[in-house]
Amino acid sequence: MARKKIGEGQTALVTGASYGIGLDLAECFAKDGYALIVTARSADALGAVAQKLAAQYGVTVTPLALDLGVHGAGAALAKQIAGKGLKVDVLVNNAGYGIAGGLDGSKAEEQLGMVDLNIRALLELTQIYWPGMLKAKRGGVLNVASTAAFQPGPLMAVYYASKAFVLSFSEALWKEAEGTGVHVSCLCPGPTTSKFRERAGTGKTRLSSLGEAMPSMTVARLGYRGFRNNRRVVVTGFRNGMLAGLAPFLPRKTLLGVVHNMQSPT
Ligand SMILES: NC(=O)c1ccc[n+]([C@@H]2O[C@H](COP(=O)([O-])OP(=O)(O)OC[C@H]3O[C@@H](n4cnc5c(N)ncnc54)[C@H](OP(=O)(O)O)[C@@H]3O)[C@@H](O)[C@H]2O)c1
Repeated sequence: MARKKIGEGQTALVTGASYGIGLDLAECFAKDGYALIVTARSADALGAVAQKLAAQYGVTVTPLALDLGVHGAGAALAKQIAGKGLKVDVLVNNAGYGIAGGLDGSKAEEQLGMVDLNIRALLELTQIYWPGMLKAKRGGVLNVASTAAFQPGPLMAVYYASKAFVLSFSEALWKEAEGTGVHVSCLCPGPTTSKFRERAGTGKTRLSSLGEAMPSMTVARLGYRGFRNNRRVVVTGFRNGMLAGLAPFLPRKTLLGVVHNMQSPT
């Protein structure tokens, strides 16, 4: 008799699953037998993802395209999910973007849009599904932050601050869920291959010239494994882990100078 997969009977909702880290996280869950609900703005890409993962892993994949940056989009998504008779056991808050450059001269709608997507939508969805997880004593939340979460980020200030929120919020929930059976993990990748750089405009910074970006599947696997083990924080890779661990011990002014330098154009 085939062994039951760990995710069988459970559904994971993955945001930002049309490409990049979110797509690879969705694949990790599908591989372990989770049914999926995948969401992002691009309906065509999502449809293709749903078909591919369903065929490859024999799980149900429901694509729901919408812009999570719109106020109330989390509630609208949850309504669509409930309308289809689906439930959410695991929430993967991955959708997010960054914008490189100083605040001066940047577009207010892009900075505020980052807050709406990286923070507001993540909180809205978590608040919707959290009580059900605690009641069921299973499932959980995997939030995608960044190594940007560990320090302020001059020349990318709003993005770094948004990820600091995600890290702080996730760690607090991890504690609130302790002993309940509900898992909470915060995945903190460093530079990773995806479309992120294209949208963020970080391709020409000193940071981006420092070394190879990590493949998105490697990042996703580390995040998925961390979530399975209820690891509070998962920083991807030795160098990223070392830098994140070092940040609190550096004098703040020095740290600000280092990050400013890293985020400056080459
Ligand atoms: N790549 C990196 O170097 C890096 C490093 C650290 C942390 N991260 C974090 O990792 C997460 C995933 O990023 P990624 O690198 O995989 O970037 P990506 O390749 O740009 O993917 C972003 C995903 O989010 C979706 N998305 C963007 N805006 C959206 C919106 N308004 N509503 C709904 N979905 C939206 C995108 O799909 P649509 O365009 O179809 O909407 C896509 O599926 C982000 O939270 C990012 O901050 C990335």
